[in-house]
Amino acid sequence: SRLLLLNGPNLGILGSRQPEIYGTDTLADIEGWVAEEVADRGWKVEAFQHDGEAEMIRTVQANYDTVGAIINPAALMMAGWGLRDALANYPRPWIEVHLSNVWAREQFRHESVTGPLATGVIFGLGATGYRLAARALLEKVTDS
Ligand code: DQA
Repeated sequence: SRLLLLNGPNLGILGSRQPEIYGTDTLADIEGWVAEEVADRGWKVEAFQHDGEAEMIRTVQANYDTVGAIINPAALMMAGWGLRDALANYPRPWIEVHLSNVWAREQFRHESVTGPLATGVIFGLGATGYRLAARALLEKVTDS
C-alpha cells in the first residue's frame, strides 16, 4: 500500500526557512521519519513537494488510490480553492499538518480552506506533527 505525503509551497527549503518558526529539520528528515512510522505496516511513502498549486492538484489527482495522506498545504491553506476541490474527491482518511501554531500567528493563518475536509488537523508541534499524523492514519485506515 502507498501513503501520500504532500507538502506545499516553500516547504522544500525546510531546515533553513525561518528556523525560529519552522525548526531546523529538513523535509528529507521528515519524509524519513514518516516512512519509519509506517514501515512495519508495509506502507510505502510517496513523498512530493511542490511550490505551485497546479502541481499540488495534479499530485492529489494522481494519488486518489493511496491508502491515506498527510498533507501540509502551507500557504495554500489560505486560498487554495483548487486544491480544496481536488481534496474533496480524495476518498481516504487524510491529516492536515502545519509545523507552526497557526493560531498564534497572523490572523490570515487562523482559518484553513482545506482543513475542514481533513479527517484531523495537527499544528504547532513541528516535525513531530507529521509522525503523529502517520500514527493516526495507522489507526484510521482499516484495510491496507
Ligand atoms: C505552514 C503554515 C502556513 O500558514 C504557512 O504559509 C506555511 C507553513 C506550517 O507548516 O506551519 O508555509 O503550513
